[in-house]
Amino acid sequence: MPFTISCGDCFFCRKGLFSACERTNPNSEMAIKAMGHSPAGLFGFSHMLGGYCGGQAEYLRVPMADIGPIKVPDSVTDEQALFLSDIFPTGYMAAENAQIEPGDTVAIWGCGPVGQFAIRSALMLGAGRVIAIDEVSERLAMAEAGGAETINFAEVDSVYDELQFRTKGRGPDSCIDAVGAEASGHGAMDAVIDKVKAATFLATDRVHVLREAIMSCRMGGTISIPGVYVGMGDKIPIGAMMNKGLTIKTGQTHVQAYTKPLLARIEAGDIDPSFVVTHPASLEDAPEMYQKFRDKQDGVIKVVLRP
Ligand SMILES: NC(=O)c1ccc[n+]([C@@H]2O[C@H](COP(=O)([O-])OP(=O)(O)OC[C@H]3O[C@@H](n4cnc5c(N)ncnc54)[C@H](O)[C@@H]3O)[C@@H](O)[C@H]2O)c1
Repeated sequence: MPFTISCGDCFFCRKGLFSACERTNPNSEMAIKAMGHSPAGLFGFSHMLGGYCGGQAEYLRVPMADIGPIKVPDSVTDEQALFLSDIFPTGYMAAENAQIEPGDTVAIWGCGPVGQFAIRSALMLGAGRVIAIDEVSERLAMAEAGGAETINFAEVDSVYDELQFRTKGRGPDSCIDAVGAEASGHGAMDAVIDKVKAATFLATDRVHVLREAIMSCRMGGTISIPGVYVGMGDKIPIGAMMNKGLTIKTGQTHVQAYTKPLLARIEAGDIDPSFVVTHPASLEDAPEMYQKFRDKQDGVIKVVLRP
């Protein structure tokens, strides 16, 4: 069941742009003020995108239930199918948005669940090399198991320098920001300024990774941004973006466009999405699991709650 709520029939749904559905955000006025236009309603996102409750409950009301949900065949387990609702399509759309050509080098910031699926999707779409960046050792290990080379950003002086070194000075063909507005800057000056500005309500988003991706990407390359940004960010190197001729592609995932094709990939054995589950638990364990996920304790990467 997609996290995007879409009618399947409006101008945008007919174009396959399901997360832009015109009919499912009852609070669209709020979104229009903040963003110029309103995206679709999303489960568990915010009041600005509809105020729909999230999916982490025993039962959930599903609007437009004739459009989004798919029937899971008996040959696929719950854990294999579950991530079709969000992170598998998100990682896959991020890789598609990266406009990968055969043999390309793709750099991916963030080895959380979305980054993990972006790594595997980039390789499925023909990338020759994926370089994954994070600082959490078990996440870097899972990235390596998925076929990526890794950079621990806490152990290098400069991610930019390391990426240029590994690509003979040219830079990666595509860069995927699977971190978003909560990037850790590890002492970098721009990130310290972001933190101070966010704390004093002068900015909302910490844009360190996006800046690094724009600076690192090769001339004429592509930046794909699945990571969520919410409001205003500054010091975005727009001059570099323009003069390097970069393409930027981003968005809330058009989940309904991906569920059936990706289910077919699972059935064909191209990928088993259950690799990402590190902590199966009961609904009663949720508070403890939220805390462990937030604090990245106990090797947690993805929790699955079974009511
Ligand atoms: N576009 C969509 O429709 C969509 C859907 C789902 C999730 N998301 C977004 O994707 C992003 C990733 O989601 P997730 O569940 O994997 O989150 P997560 O928090 O589990 O993972 C983010 C990872 O980024 C790493 N990180 C932090 N700073 C970094 C830096 N400077 N360089 C490299 N890595 C850094 C963290 O250590 C962490 O492992 C979030 O912003 C989430 O909201 C978007």
